[in-house]
Parts: sequence; structure tokens; C-alpha cells
Amino acid sequence: MGKPLRVLLVEDNADDAFLLERHLRRAGYTPQITRVETADAMVQTLEQLAEGWDIILADYSLPNFSAPEALRLLKHTRYDVPFIMMSGAVSEETAVAAMRAGAHDYVSKQNLARLVPAIEREMKEAEERHHKRTAERALRSSEERFHRLVTAMPLALLISDLSGRVVYANRGVERLLGYSQPEIEDGSVTIERIFEPAAIDTANSLLHTWSSGFGEHYEVDCVKRDGTIVPVLIGAAVLNPENPLQDRQIAAFLVDLTEQKRSHQILRNTEKLAAAGRLAASVAHEINNPLEAVTNCMYLLNQCQLDDKGRQYLQLAQHELNRVTHITTQTLRFYRQSTRATETNIHELLETVLALYDIRMRAQNIQALREFGNIPSIVAHDGEIRQVLANLIGNAVDAMQSDGGKLLLRTRIGRRWKTGQHGVAITVADTGPGMDRKTRDRIFEPFFSTKGLTGTGLGLWISLEILSKHHGSVQVRSRQMRPHGTVFRIFLPLQPGEASEHEESELRVSA
Ligand SMILES: Nc1ncnc2c1ncn2[C@@H]1O[C@H](COP(=O)(O)OP(=O)(O)OP(=O)(O)O)[C@@H](O)[C@H]1O
Ligand SMILES: [Mg+2]
Repeated sequence: MGKPLRVLLVEDNADDAFLLERHLRRAGYTPQITRVETADAMVQTLEQLAEGWDIILADYSLPNFSAPEALRLLKHTRYDVPFIMMSGAVSEETAVAAMRAGAHDYVSKQNLARLVPAIEREMKEAEERHHKRTAERALRSSEERFHRLVTAMPLALLISDLSGRVVYANRGVERLLGYSQPEIEDGSVTIERIFEPAAIDTANSLLHTWSSGFGEHYEVDCVKRDGTIVPVLIGAAVLNPENPLQDRQIAAFLVDLTEQKRSHQILRNTEKLAAAGRLAASVAHEINNPLEAVTNCMYLLNQCQLDDKGRQYLQLAQHELNRVTHITTQTLRFYRQSTRATETNIHELLETVLALYDIRMRAQNIQALREFGNIPSIVAHDGEIRQVLANLIGNAVDAMQSDGGKLLLRTRIGRRWKTGQHGVAITVADTGPGMDRKTRDRIFEPFFSTKGLTGTGLGLWISLEILSKHHGSVQVRSRQMRPHGTVFRIFLPLQPGEASEHEESELRVSA
């Protein structure tokens, strides 16, 4: 059994075909020859073999077809099959013309001795071409995969050479640092530009550590295109450690740490606040006893004979003492959780808070509009709900500081659309300047305040805690364009126990 050889033969002469087959068999092949004489037959035959033809041998001229035509036809298909022209008598010019047209070789029928070496050489070359094409395809698809992956990746990836020039950056770098793709492509972005000056030494030493292999992870500050600083976690690897040092490239992954740092800060602040609350409560508790003694002494002093001056001082002292007593009871109440919820009349609470702000509202020319509905009392910790209302009204009054305005207080029977649960909806709306989006997104964070020294930034944070404890919710709407203002709408269920245990306090913030 010889080597199999799939031959597509373009030939009209059956005798020549016979001779050719005999020649191939003698040379050790078991040829499978399909002979065609026309272009149509050639096209059909080319498509017949799924595994492809090993070689095309074509007679130079046939009555209705020719080798050059067959070659042209082959070039228009996707097949890469070695093509050898054959002819009875070969003139030098014909041979040259055939080779120019793209034939792989030209063999004379009179001298078939050259045929087999030509077939073997061409088949070997075709196989090499095939391997090369497969390798190129694999490389292209791996490059495309890499490209798709790094484009979709939420991380920022940049590749730099050892001089610190950034040679590649994915979209993540654009999102994180704000440099555009053309800026990166023209090579003007460097490691020196990206790292904070204080971090450049670290960056340079990192570049050299990394150049020898995998680096560790470091936290550094980067400079965005607009000059702002962003904290990042950076990890890197050398892409081509086999290259000489100066030709190595380093890939660095950058993770934005802004959010993480912010939540750490909030957590730290919350812990600080809890500790401060405990401390304040214990101080207030300690102050309470001597305070009672002083109050008693003042009472006794009041019974004594005093001249006018003395009585005036006593009154002043009593006034200040009342303030201290008020502050300590407030502090104690704030920290100590009230134990039992009671029947609470929301309208009464609103009135007491309005009374508190009456003087300020008059001074600032703020008009209070009451739209009180027919609502039942709710079961709640009244002191805490008063605290929520006082903060909402206080914020509204603060917001309308410059040129007066209207404060709307509306109460209605409400219903939670998700659960159908009944409750009371309280609206506190003002005609103040409103908030921008950035402010609105942060108002419930502890210590977030735009009021400088006059605000602690705890009001809304505590309010949210209290509402969530009562299974209530809050919605905020704010507008800076006319008609501007801010609307807080809180919902409190009639019975705090009515809400399901898994229900979370709902917070909706909208424009
Ligand atoms: N009605 C409002 N109009 C405009 N901005 C508001 C309004 N309510 C709240 N804000 C914004 O929300 C921020 C946070 O409010 P929050 O009540 O938590 O703290 P604060 O009022 O600043 O301080 P504190 O209540 O502790 O005295 C305010 O500083 C303000 O910027
Ligand atoms: Mg406030």
C-alpha cells in the first residue's frame, strides 16, 4: 500500500491520465485521481472533498479549458492547494508565464521525473503554510480575547516600559484617571505624571522590583488628569521577563480605593460617635447628682433675705442652672433608649417643635402652613419622633435663612404601596434653595453637613436610625431650579410592630 494522494487532474486526454497514474504508483503513491475537463466540473470537484485536495495537476491546454484558467479559478476560491501545470512541450516563455501567474511549478509530460519531487516539495510547503495560518489565527483570536477582556474589566490596567512611558491603557484607566485614549496612544502619559510626587520614588523602585518578577500590592495616591488625587491599590507583573532588562514591560492593575476609604471613615466616625455618646451619658449622669444638690441650695437661698443685687444674681444663676439641667437631661435621654412606645399625637409634637422655632421663624420671615389631616395617634417613642421632626423643621429653617419663605407641614393617612400597610405620612417642605445631587446623595451620612461649625451633620443620620427603629421610611425630593425647595416625607406605621421583621427602613432620594 503506497502513500495516499488526492489528485485533482485537469486533463482531457485519458491516455495521459493513465500514464500519470502509473507514474505516481511507481513512485510509491496510491493516488485517488478525479479528472475534470471544464471549469464547472473543477468547481464542483474542489468542493467535494471535505478534507481538501493534496495537489492539482493541470494540462496546459484543453479543448474547453486551460491550466491558466484553472489557476485563476482556484485563486478565487478559499482553497490553498498546490498547483502544478503540465504540458507536452514546454517552452521557456510558457513556463515563466505560468510561474508568474502563480503556479507552483511547471512540469513537462515528457520528463515526468521532475513531477514527484515537485509534488513532495509543494505539499510540504502547503502544510507549512497551513500551520502558519493556524498559528496566526490562534494568535489573532487570543489577542482579541485579551482585548475584549481588558476592555470589559472594571479594573484599570496599564502597561509601561521601564522608562515609565505608558504604552497601553484600558478603558478602566480612562474612567479612573481621566486620560483619553489618544493621549495615552501618543505616549504623553507617564508613570511620573500618574503618581503623586511623594509616591514617585516608591513607583520607581516598584518598577525595578517588578522588572524582576511579580510585585506585591501597594497603596499609593495617583493624580487624575484634572489634578485631583485618587487613592489606589496597585499590583503589577512583568509581561516579558525573558527579555533583556531595557526591553521589559510592566503591567499594572489599579483598583480605586475611594469608596473603601470613605466607608472606613464613616465606620470610624460611627464608632467615635458611639463612644462619645457613652462618655457624654456617663458625664451627664455624674453631673446630675451635684446638680440636684445645687438646685436644692438655690431653692433654700431663695427663701433667705437678700438685697436686690443678691436676688438678681440668684435669678441669673437659676436661669443658667436650668440650662445645665436641660442639657444633661437631653444628653441622658439621647443616649438612653426610651423603653416603651406610647400613644403619640403627631400634631401635638409638631406644635411643640414649631413653638421651639417660633422666634427664629419670625425673625427670618418664614410663614408656617399647616395642612393637618384627620390622622389617628400612633404608637411610638414620642421623644424620638419629636427629635426627627425638630431636625427636619430645623433644617428647613436653616435652608430659608436668606430671604424668608414658606414651611409646609402636612399630615395624611398614608399607605405603603408595597405592603398595603397603614400609617401616617408627614410632609415637611420648604421653599429654600434646594440641594444639588452630590449633597442629596450624602445627607444621611453621619457628620455630613454643609453648615460648617453650626451643623454636626448628625441630624438626618439619627433621624434615619429612629425611623428605621419605628419601621418607618423617608423620601427626599429637592429642586434647585424655580420653584426651588426641599420636601421630606416620612411614613410611620400606626403600630411599630405591624411591620414584618425583615422589612428594612426604606430610603428614597429623588430629584
Ligand atoms: N431642607 C433642606 N434644604 C437644604 N439642605 C438641607 C435640608 N435638609 C438637610 N439639608 C442638607 O443636609 C445636610 C445634613 O443635614 P443634617 O440634619 O444631617 O445635619 P446638619 O443640619 O448640617 O447638622 P445638625 O442637624 O447636626 O445640626 C445639611 O448640612 C444640609 O446641607
Ligand atoms: Mg440638621
